[in-house]
Amino acid sequence: MDLRSQIDIERLPQHIAIIMDGNGRWAKEHNMPRVFGHKNGVKAVREATEAAAEIGIKYLTLYAFSTENWKRPKYEVGALMKLLVDTLDNEVKTLNKNNIRLQAIGDLERLPGRTLKALKEGIESTKNNDRMTLVLALNYSAKWEIVEATRKIAQKVKSGSMNPEDIDQHIFSKSLSTSGIPDPELLIRTSGENRLSNFLLWQMAYAELCFMSVYWPDFDKNKLFEAILDYQSRERRFGKTSEQLKS
Ligand code: FPP
Repeated sequence: MDLRSQIDIERLPQHIAIIMDGNGRWAKEHNMPRVFGHKNGVKAVREATEAAAEIGIKYLTLYAFSTENWKRPKYEVGALMKLLVDTLDNEVKTLNKNNIRLQAIGDLERLPGRTLKALKEGIESTKNNDRMTLVLALNYSAKWEIVEATRKIAQKVKSGSMNPEDIDQHIFSKSLSTSGIPDPELLIRTSGENRLSNFLLWQMAYAELCFMSVYWPDFDKNKLFEAILDYQSRERRFGKTSEQLKS
């Protein structure tokens, strides 16, 4: 069945966010170490990015490393950071060829030097691309981001450049690390876990949540199309009634 041809191109989400989960369990199923799962996860990152760009999605955000992930065994954290550097080094050319811009959100300055360097180079070299923006969430957590935004706003109030009455949802959104990026309309989480895990909590206030049982390394273009079709089959009401939406 050709899923892609069933998608209504006029009603695409502008922004899709993905929690890539299940690399470890996928590896275990293959009797391989967890890092083997992460390596195969990179193939799925490529598939998701290509499929999203091909179909006309404007923003794709991938949760690649959370602030909680530092608690994993040192060896696994090191391997993930190395994988990121290698992937960025190898894939930036392809991003440029496909006119895809790279951005990152999270507490980036605390990443290892080599990871941060590769990331900054990737962001710089793709900054003029405008077909799609690929946002990597690295050392990211939504609660961290919300506290940071609050701090920025508090500083402005303290310095006298903003009044407390001026603070509204728009100002708050602009103070988040996703400033300038529209909120995701669709969240996908793989591996059968039904949680948000501290990801884009402010931005996903109205997102449709799509939980899929597939482990991340097995995610492919058709899985992305399946999630978009699921999204398009839902009625998005934003607090209104079905009747109001029809009028
Ligand atoms: C979750 O699976 C996956 C991660 C924490 C890391 C995701 C990283 C990649 C796919 C590779 C690099 C990414 C980029 C963007 C180049 P898990 O380890 O939590 O799996 P489990 O729940 O089965 O243990």
